[in-house]
Amino acid sequence: MPRWERWEQFKRQIFTRRRYPKPTMSEPVVKSAATIKNLTPSAVKTSPLAVSGVRPAVKKFSHNSEYKQILNRLKVDFEKKYNNVKASSGNGLQDYDVLKTLGTGAFGVVKLIRRKNTEEYFALKILSKEKIVRHKQLQHTANEKRILQSVEFPFLVNMECCFKDNSYIYLVMPFVCGGEMFALLRKSKRFGEEQAKFYGAQVALAIEYLHHMNLIYRDLKPENILIDMKGYVKITDFGFCKLIRDRTWTLCGTPEYLAPEIIQSRGYGKSVDWWSFGILLYEMAAGYTPFYTNSSDHMVLFEKICKGKFRFPAGFGGDLKHLIQNILHADLTRRFGNLKNGANDIKQHIWFRGTNWIGLMNMEVSAPFIPKISGPGDASQFDIYDEQDLKIASKCMFIKEFADF
Ligand SMILES: Nc1ncnc2c1ncn2[C@@H]1O[C@H](COP(=O)(O)OP(=O)(O)OP(=O)(O)O)[C@@H](O)[C@H]1O
Ligand SMILES: [Mg+2]
Repeated sequence: MPRWERWEQFKRQIFTRRRYPKPTMSEPVVKSAATIKNLTPSAVKTSPLAVSGVRPAVKKFSHNSEYKQILNRLKVDFEKKYNNVKASSGNGLQDYDVLKTLGTGAFGVVKLIRRKNTEEYFALKILSKEKIVRHKQLQHTANEKRILQSVEFPFLVNMECCFKDNSYIYLVMPFVCGGEMFALLRKSKRFGEEQAKFYGAQVALAIEYLHHMNLIYRDLKPENILIDMKGYVKITDFGFCKLIRDRTWTLCGTPEYLAPEIIQSRGYGKSVDWWSFGILLYEMAAGYTPFYTNSSDHMVLFEKICKGKFRFPAGFGGDLKHLIQNILHADLTRRFGNLKNGANDIKQHIWFRGTNWIGLMNMEVSAPFIPKISGPGDASQFDIYDEQDLKIASKCMFIKEFADF
């Protein structure tokens, strides 16, 4: 496709910024990336939850089971929930005290809340019906809610309940109190390889789980990866997650993390999550992304991604370089994660040698970093935002559009 035509296509996206416009980094300074949401009309774009996002260890994963069997069992649970979509299940905002903003996104805001009768803390994602409709995100929001209520995996956030009112959709999730990996990474500048391996292993397991459920995630980045009170990972934000049979075409994600096949408007599938996993490994170990450019023109970035040339800074170990090089292949027939052994090419790579995969799933491995938290409702690991009151309309808006929510 000619350059200008692709540019026309990209101009129709909306961009939301990464959390910190100016990361406190030395060289090279990382440009803020954004999440892209497709605006084209044809866009396709059980246990009780514990306080602070740490689930009680009710389900231990057996070290003796074939991992495939574990995944198959989890798929039965997932499908049961996915095929039994529940409409709003909570009473409403009156059951909670709304405390403070944890993060903001393109269509709403996430706030810390406390349930009045139990004093449990949760994170509440508040999405504006008007914005969802205006930006043609109804299908994405429906996917987000349905998937959030169906997934259950140690390294994924899921949904406690949801409700709606005249103006907003509300998704209640466990509050993951350790903050975003993004903030920790910017503070640390970069992670040592052991720390990157600890987080990378959990993210790889989470992607493998999602793909086994036939879901693609499409927005992997440190802003969407939270750290729980035990120092483990919890991936949040299923806004672009989607059940796919084969391929999909929507242009969405975060520019620095987009796979070449998305940029080139080829149909794509699960391979894009492994690509972004490669970008994440690089960013964790380097402190910036491999196709970083000073230019604010996204086309410059996209051309770099499609050319596929990147360099490693000094200090990268040989095994990690080998793994990243084998993931960041534009050629899908060579990309690790996308070959016939699937996630095993990554999990069995020499860089992950010695990883106790089931021990991680059972949270038996000690974490390299434990956030300093004074109690279950401590949100000090999150940025401070201007607090804005919700403006709830006196008449119910978009009744038909949100009838199934
Ligand atoms: N369960 C949670 N516990 C604690 N904080 C959370 C939780 N879920 C989300 N957040 C915070 O809120 C921020 C925004 O949430 P989320 O990414 O779901 O919104 P979004 O509108 O999809 O954002 P964007 O469009 O920028 O990707 C997260 O980056 C994180 O800082
Ligand atoms: Mg997000």
